[in-house]
Amino acid sequence: MTDVRTTLKQGLARLRDEHVSSYTLAAELLLLHVLGRDRTWIYSHPEEEISSTEADRYFALIARRANGEPTQHLTGKQEFWGLEFGVTPDVLIPRPETEHLIEVALDRLAVRELRAGRKQTLTGEGLRIADIGTGSGCIAIALAKELSGATIYATDISSAALAVAKRNAARHAVADRIRFLECNLLDGLIDRAAANANICVVGAQLYPEPERRDAAPLLGKDAPHESPVTSHQSPSFDLIASNPPYIGRREAATLMREVRDHEPEIALYGGEEGYEFYAGLIAQSAAHLKPSGILVLELGHNSLPAVHPLLDAPTWTNVAVTNDLAGIPRVLAAERL
Ligand SMILES: C[S@@+](CC[C@H](N)C(=O)[O-])C[C@H]1O[C@@H](n2cnc3c(N)ncnc32)[C@H](O)[C@@H]1O
Repeated sequence: MTDVRTTLKQGLARLRDEHVSSYTLAAELLLLHVLGRDRTWIYSHPEEEISSTEADRYFALIARRANGEPTQHLTGKQEFWGLEFGVTPDVLIPRPETEHLIEVALDRLAVRELRAGRKQTLTGEGLRIADIGTGSGCIAIALAKELSGATIYATDISSAALAVAKRNAARHAVADRIRFLECNLLDGLIDRAAANANICVVGAQLYPEPERRDAAPLLGKDAPHESPVTSHQSPSFDLIASNPPYIGRREAATLMREVRDHEPEIALYGGEEGYEFYAGLIAQSAAHLKPSGILVLELGHNSLPAVHPLLDAPTWTNVAVTNDLAGIPRVLAAERL
């Protein structure tokens, strides 16, 4: 038997000796996870005994953390926008910087509503929103929680990531307002008729909505033949948001091992330079946004010079950059003319 204080001190010392970043926080989070308690309890019960089974579990996790596994992979969760998200090695761990993207998106939508003389309380009634490269679903789900009247489409090329995002949407009770699509960028976004028919496109196949996913694919004679949106069809989105992969492969050696060795490559690397995704994303967004529709993109630390010129007249207006707390240009937003 040992107690909470001693166990925490030992865990913390091990992580500090291994030069783990934010070792105090990591040691605490892992102990909270093992004991199923919150931080207040730990600090108000330092003398509480913990069983040897719990201590063994804790030190096994400490060893994995010391070996480079991210704390979030060990606890299976990360907070974003005040919400708890389940995470696995199949998805990017949501980052605090991405909350700037949510703030910019909500501000832009509010300004648009005011300009149109509509009511100031933004519920997103009737809005259609797309989150491209949804990963854990953090952007789509945060927006769904803020905009109770909006319908959201969330795409990802990774079916494993989409499975995590769907679980998170269910956990936050917004699964009925988010349609998940497995496709490249915006390729699978479908037209209004298909959306109203509650169909989502998964790869090359049409499936019923998630709650009916146990049913067979709807291809074949019974499949509804809705086509993907193409540039000649009426554009249909009020907001497109994306935090695309934006790290350059040439930078891989400079990444922390927690990121380079444990987060999915498909979520990290945009190409050799890092900014390769933006041109396609911006061109497809231009074709899918309504007039006055808003595009909000998260940027890599050095992406701005390559990406800013892509948002040019006559297609785009009101282009603006928002810096993160470290002063790095982090979010680029623009409006479709
Ligand atoms: C940087 S992560 C962002 C995840 C999440 N939106 C967030 O902010 O935490 C990029 C995501 O884009 C997905 N992705 C990569 N290539 C893609 C593509 N060609 N089309 C759609 N999604 C893609 C990855 O699987 C990953 O989930």
